[in-house]
Amino acid sequence: MAVSANSAFCQVLETYFGSGRCFLLAKGRVGLYAGLRALGFQRGTKLLLPGYTCMVVPSAVRFAGLEPRYIDIDPRSYNVDPKQLDLVNARDVSAIVVQHTYGIPCEMSRIMQWAASHGIPVIEDCCHSFGSRYRGQLCGTFGRFAFMSGQWNKPFSTGLGGILLVNDEPLATRISTFLRDNAKSPGTGRSLLLRAQILAFQLMVRPATAMRIMSMYRRINQVGLAIGSSSKDELRGEMPAGYLTAMADCQARQGLREMAVIDGQYAASSIAHVVLSVGTAAYWIFARGGRGHRGNSAAAISGAGCQQARSFSKSALGAR
Ligand SMILES: Cc1ncc(COP(=O)(O)O)c(C=O)c1O
Repeated sequence: MAVSANSAFCQVLETYFGSGRCFLLAKGRVGLYAGLRALGFQRGTKLLLPGYTCMVVPSAVRFAGLEPRYIDIDPRSYNVDPKQLDLVNARDVSAIVVQHTYGIPCEMSRIMQWAASHGIPVIEDCCHSFGSRYRGQLCGTFGRFAFMSGQWNKPFSTGLGGILLVNDEPLATRISTFLRDNAKSPGTGRSLLLRAQILAFQLMVRPATAMRIMSMYRRINQVGLAIGSSSKDELRGEMPAGYLTAMADCQARQGLREMAVIDGQYAASSIAHVVLSVGTAAYWIFARGGRGHRGNSAAAISGAGCQQARSFSKSALGAR
């Protein structure tokens, strides 16, 4: 039986994250909404959000019937300041969303400790941070669930689109039922338009053209000729029709292509690591041999080279 792009992409993501179950949606915010609905909080329950976030995040919280409460950020990282958590009346809140802003991981050990001591579920906003790690562990694998954005301007893009990663099997089962009963399929018209947009994006967007193309795209979207990020209803605070929609197959195919790029980068950075290690060791053995040296070990030097290769890969991804 042929495997759909949607389930192939889910499988690749689940292997990449090494834990949890993936669901593919029209946008990242829709993942937050679905996860909150499945958690089944009472209407009006308060939920903590970072003081610096995207406006569609509190909107999703409101659409799920909950009340956002904000917690201040650390101006050095733009992430929730763990010191501020001690000021929160934990009995008043049902869950906390932490956002790994601009790819910088939050201080997860302190956040997870605080949440565990109060029995509060942690939700990770990984919309900027696909592939970021905190102390070696991938962002998105700490909390009950995580949501990721595949918007055009994100480091990992599926041409709009959202990923929901659920790290709690009973919750994943409830989400699966909720989506089966409520999520709309993208439909042929939307899928064709998305496919055309992905193609146009690939052909036209380059670092030199990105700003002009994006402002043209916004104008086309305003007159209703393209599928954009937020409708006028949503910007007014109303839940738009078709909000809870699944990812289209063409977006999942784009996601698979993006994953292949990431795999290639990992392979390239591993090869670079081996070459640098061998080269550095050979240098010390043959060129400096016997002349007594102190300082950097081969591992430290090659580690730095590998780090550079990784940050180059990341900025290359971000520039697209
Ligand atoms: C921090 C953050 N969270 C959530 C979102 C929402 O992502 P999406 O547009 O895929 O719903 C964004 C999008 O810009 C974002 O920057």
